[in-house]
Amino acid sequence: MTTTEAVTHHAAPFSGLTITDPDLFSWVQTVAALTEPDNVYVCDGSQAEYDRLAAGLVAAGTFIKLDEALRPGSYLARSEPSDVARVESRTFICSEKEADAGPTNNWSEPTAMRATLNGVFAGSMRGRTMYVVPFSMGPVGGPISRVGVELTDSPYVVASMRIMTRMGADALAQIEQGADWVPAVHSVGYPLRDADGATREDVAWPCNDEKYIVHFPESREIWSYGSGYGGNALLGKKCYALRIASVLGRDEGWMAEHMLILKITGPDARVYHLAAAFPSACGKTNLAMLRPTIPGWKVETIGDDIAWMRPGPDGRLYAINPEAGFFGVAPGTGESTNPTAIAALGHDVVFTNVALTDDGDVWWEGLTDDVPEHLVDWQGNDWTPDSGRPAAHPNSRFTVRADQAPSIAPEWEALGGVPIDVILFGGRRASNVPLVAESYDWEHGVFIGATVSSEQTAAAEGAVGALRRDPFAMLPFCGYNMADYWGHWLKMGERLGDKAPRIFQVNWFRKNADGKFLWPGFGENARVLEWALRRVNGEVGAADAATGRLPLPGDLNLDGLDVTEEDLAELFAIDPASWTAEAELTEEYFGQFGHRLPDAMTDQLARLRERLAQA
Ligand code: GTP
Ligand code: SPV
Ligand code: MN
Repeated sequence: MTTTEAVTHHAAPFSGLTITDPDLFSWVQTVAALTEPDNVYVCDGSQAEYDRLAAGLVAAGTFIKLDEALRPGSYLARSEPSDVARVESRTFICSEKEADAGPTNNWSEPTAMRATLNGVFAGSMRGRTMYVVPFSMGPVGGPISRVGVELTDSPYVVASMRIMTRMGADALAQIEQGADWVPAVHSVGYPLRDADGATREDVAWPCNDEKYIVHFPESREIWSYGSGYGGNALLGKKCYALRIASVLGRDEGWMAEHMLILKITGPDARVYHLAAAFPSACGKTNLAMLRPTIPGWKVETIGDDIAWMRPGPDGRLYAINPEAGFFGVAPGTGESTNPTAIAALGHDVVFTNVALTDDGDVWWEGLTDDVPEHLVDWQGNDWTPDSGRPAAHPNSRFTVRADQAPSIAPEWEALGGVPIDVILFGGRRASNVPLVAESYDWEHGVFIGATVSSEQTAAAEGAVGALRRDPFAMLPFCGYNMADYWGHWLKMGERLGDKAPRIFQVNWFRKNADGKFLWPGFGENARVLEWALRRVNGEVGAADAATGRLPLPGDLNLDGLDVTEEDLAELFAIDPASWTAEAELTEEYFGQFGHRLPDAMTDQLARLRERLAQA
């Protein structure tokens, strides 16, 4: 090797599919020149390719193959304990102007951030393969769908992207035919060779303590460094389908939302579609797979995490699920809480950070009532019921194709989406927020969305249980100024007019003084959906309360349900004093947005206060 060769990197050889699009090809080459992988492989998305990747991951110790009879085609991955959730403190929106990112996002000056990224990505893929992962969010070629390309040095990410998106040759063909695409670069930040040529062994879960999850909204670019986990690394999900897509939606007149989508059929065979925004780990997957306990109702799943919605030719709001799989919270998922998810998880699943049973299957808290006597926990240590710590990480997840859910709706891949009748906003609130309330109108609905607060979960770093504002469940996912986002919602409402979905607030998590949930939740939530749909149909009235319209006594279907009168009263209690205190906090919260706060939000706050004063 000559001296020049030691400094000037040799172009890495390409394999896999051929890239003919010149822009794509030159971008891949530019990133390869920066990150210096040994090889570049262009993914085709085939089963054979997935099987090869999985075999490689098993050989590397990243995947543990589960028992083929108990859990066919399935694997367990264990991440580093430092890399178990989204890192919101390291997530950046690098708009040209700080005000365009707004006070709820981490902003960083784009030129400086580019320099930082060039530093950390330089040589970051040495000794590794750089995978070129073309993917479509939404069914390939659909009018609402969009494509992107993720470059990653993590085969775990490639395998996950094949489950979570439409990945491979068909998506690449879209780009070759001229579709706009979003570039996304990902590195775990664990090169196997340094600049001087010294090598090191790989580890089962390579990552870096220094993490950057960076978005350039104006140039629609994503750069992610240092994490291999979930939304940090599967860049089609939160980075593209929410942060970048929210900006696309603002500019193009549509909406990218942290919402499940479900189809619900009533006893009279009438079909409705509902979208619901709940913060991370607050029950979207559960509701999307709901098995109603009330006779005559049927729920089918369209999506469990993200909705892209735009007005259709008839003026109604149409939604697609841009994803192809579920990256769902494992703990708390069991036969009694979510039998549909359990049925979906029978085969071809990647589990991350759950426990391993002695017979080569998986377990987590809440999977079964009886707890196994021995397990290997999510960190690879022996575990028994008296270990005094959870066997599965609280944010452990399953990755599975959506169509493995027996509840999947036949129209889940409908190119034009499904028309939305109802939108729900919810969160985890032990107090204050009633089981259900209907908004007075769209504008009030936007106020309800803007004022969502929820107890923090393990889906992101931070203190679990602390109450935090999570407007529209989009706090970590809005790619621009949150006040402008509320303004966009108001504008969309004007455009939709009387065809706009009806907006409701829900809360499955209210507790009594002893800290027990007042509402049984899960399948029983169908009762709340039924009431909302009967409101849409004008079949029932409502009681105007300070915070919204509540069910009239007797209208919420409680047949066969064991809820005491006291509990029911507490579920719907609206305490003017604590709501007035909450209104104070809302005023303070709104204050940080300055002149960008839409007047309608100030008006709505004033009206809430008036209603509270009269209550
Ligand atoms: P992300 O994937 O993080 O965006 O979250 P998600 O909203 O899809 O979360 P998921 O549905 O996986 O939430 C799971 C958690 O919510 C578990 O702890 C469940 O036990 C809990 N949960 C879901 N529905 C209910 C309910 O109706 N009542 C109660 N009490 N808990 C619920
Ligand atoms: C969430 O945290 O809202 C998730 C999981 O859906 S992740 O993809 O990791 O963001
Ligand atoms: Mn989510």
